Amino acid sequence: TPPPPPGASNDTAVRLVNDKAHPYMPLRPGDIRGPCPGLNTLASHGYLPRNGIVTPTQIINAVQDGFGMDVEDAMVLAYSTMLVDGNVVTNLMSIGGKSPLTGPDPPKPAIVGGLNTHAVFEGDASITRQDFFFGDNHSFNPKLFSQFVDFSNKFGDGFYNLTVASELRFQRIQQGIATNPQFALLSPRFSTVYGEAAFPLVFFVDGRKADGKLSVKDALGFFRDSRMPDGFHRTDLSKSADAVKNFTGAIFAAHPTQPGKNNGTVNSYIVDPNTPGLNDLCGLYENFVNNIIVSLYPNPQGVLRDNLKANLNFFFGPFEGCTQLFPYGQ
Ligand code: HEM
Ligand code: MG
Repeated sequence: TPPPPPGASNDTAVRLVNDKAHPYMPLRPGDIRGPCPGLNTLASHGYLPRNGIVTPTQIINAVQDGFGMDVEDAMVLAYSTMLVDGNVVTNLMSIGGKSPLTGPDPPKPAIVGGLNTHAVFEGDASITRQDFFFGDNHSFNPKLFSQFVDFSNKFGDGFYNLTVASELRFQRIQQGIATNPQFALLSPRFSTVYGEAAFPLVFFVDGRKADGKLSVKDALGFFRDSRMPDGFHRTDLSKSADAVKNFTGAIFAAHPTQPGKNNGTVNSYIVDPNTPGLNDLCGLYENFVNNIIVSLYPNPQGVLRDNLKANLNFFFGPFEGCTQLFPYGQ
């Protein structure tokens, strides 16, 4: 069975992270990158394996060390994606497309497709990546980045700040509704879509500054090149969870779109009352376990079942206060 989560780092200080031990290196043939500029960057600086094949423990350590992300936020992300995009038997996950390096697949309907897999975690209205409907849901998209630059100039004096994050988040949702007949903001995407707009304000801004203002130049480095600026310092780990929470709430409050989806035609957005709201963490947990995970693993056996149970147990950790679910027994 997989090892337990590594726990909280006791080093929370603002510190140099683009250091001698973690130089940026360009991709080698076969190295995998995907829809998450945070993990891409950690891999290109060697905080994660540079080939893009990772374990939850490596992710939890790397996002704390390299970006100052809080351990509980890291656990939710690492185990939720491991459960739907990773191979729980080998304990390996691709941060991009499907890879033979994660080992032999468990039986269908399991996907084990890496973070690029649409709809189990990755979703629509990304800021710099296209909706799945248009083909490529994971590569940096220059047209979308020029919209990012336009909004940063118009609302942020050349920086991605809270106002830009709020307006651009809304714009991408409006664009999806108007152009993508399959556009969907259902659980868990409904929760991540706001958090991901907040991440750059907290994690891509130098921790010595920590003013929630990301320059377009630094943004291009992270989003396109998976690269930290020279001399980059991570943010204060003891403050980042609150900062993410506050920015996420403010971005939602600026334009509170309700969860829902288009009906197979554009401009047909229908609100889905069954998707848990942004602050309903227990609802998010419940929906993810009972709907998403169980539909991928309806009747697992043997090691697969044991490892699903172990990962579900680690995933539940940060949801203390909710009722734990045991779809495969205690
Ligand atoms: C997007 C996974 C941590 C920044 C995503 C996406 C995935 C993902 C699957 C694609 C969702 C989508 O846009 O459709 C993870 C996992 C993490 C993690 C498993 C483990 C802790 C981080 C960190 C940062 C970050 C530490 C910042 C340093 C972002 C941003 C996006 C994103 C900004 C949105 C990209 C866009 O909209 O163009 N992440 N992520 N993530 N992630 Fe991460
Ligand atoms: Mg996406």
